Amino acid sequence: MLAVVPPPVTVRVPAKVNLHLAIGDLREDGYHDLVTVFQALSLTDEVTVAVTDDPGLEVFGEGEGSVPTDATNLAWRAAQELATYAGRAEGDDPKVRIVLRKGIPVAGGMAGGSADAAATLVGLASLWKLDVTRDELAAIAGKLGSDVPFALYGGTALGTGRGEQLVPVLSRHTFHWVLAFDTQGLSTPKVFGELDRLRAEGNPPRIGSHTPVVEALASGDPRQLALLLGNDLQAAAVSLRPGLRRTLRAGVNAGALAGCVSGSGPTCAFLCADAQAAVEVAAELSGAGVCRTVRVAHGPVPGARLVGGDDAP
Ligand code: C5P
Repeated sequence: MLAVVPPPVTVRVPAKVNLHLAIGDLREDGYHDLVTVFQALSLTDEVTVAVTDDPGLEVFGEGEGSVPTDATNLAWRAAQELATYAGRAEGDDPKVRIVLRKGIPVAGGMAGGSADAAATLVGLASLWKLDVTRDELAAIAGKLGSDVPFALYGGTALGTGRGEQLVPVLSRHTFHWVLAFDTQGLSTPKVFGELDRLRAEGNPPRIGSHTPVVEALASGDPRQLALLLGNDLQAAAVSLRPGLRRTLRAGVNAGALAGCVSGSGPTCAFLCADAQAAVEVAAELSGAGVCRTVRVAHGPVPGARLVGGDDAP
């Protein structure tokens, strides 16, 4: 009898920007306690998973040459973890092919690798018809990386612990962003390490409480939110990549309300007054010669979702 092979499944998954990223001290396990406010943006990757006799992973699009296609890819590790959880582990290689179509910059501080892992979990749960909830997937996601659970849920959320413990945050209206991609990525552990070094040397200012940011999100006023964007990793990213200072200035000169380094960088995120302003800021920033490419995006948007389906866990 012929086995019925299920059709491939495609999942769209958002990038994130941290509106507020307060980093605590280095923990014994090598991570830092943090308090962050994430927002999921309309800049996305698409991940297709398919049953195959020829397991592997392919990457197309943004940064395709610099993404590992071996077992170190976080999407592949997600497939292994889910296979083990579901009792489907067949040696180290789940019998799946994973195709990543990337729009999120690689090593850009927008959690692109985490997004791919989250999308792989949602895609395989559907492909394998697993009876798992999104909260069960989030528990697996948290083991894979600090930002993976947020990519599952999307929206706007307060993250604590390593960033993996999430509570949704009310965000009224849509916020409009311009993103400036840099020519080269930055390594997240190196940026955290640089912050530790800067803190050991002196006492760089730390951002305050997240409460005003949560209030500004509820008000829906981008001008109020713009005054409050803050990222403790920004000084470290700028220290490693001094040219980011010029990029941040250029975005504000182009008419953005405010700009910040996104997560560990080097992508810079600029909050704009409305959709029209974002298009104008993007056009002017493109001509300023301070970054590789510019994108417009809005948020919040939902987390990892099946394309053309509504039965995601
Ligand atoms: O969790 P994830 O694998 O994405 O983290 C990548 C690296 O970023 C960690 O190895 C660590 O160096 C740093 N990190 C941290 N504290 C966090 C999250 C990440 O120091 N809360």
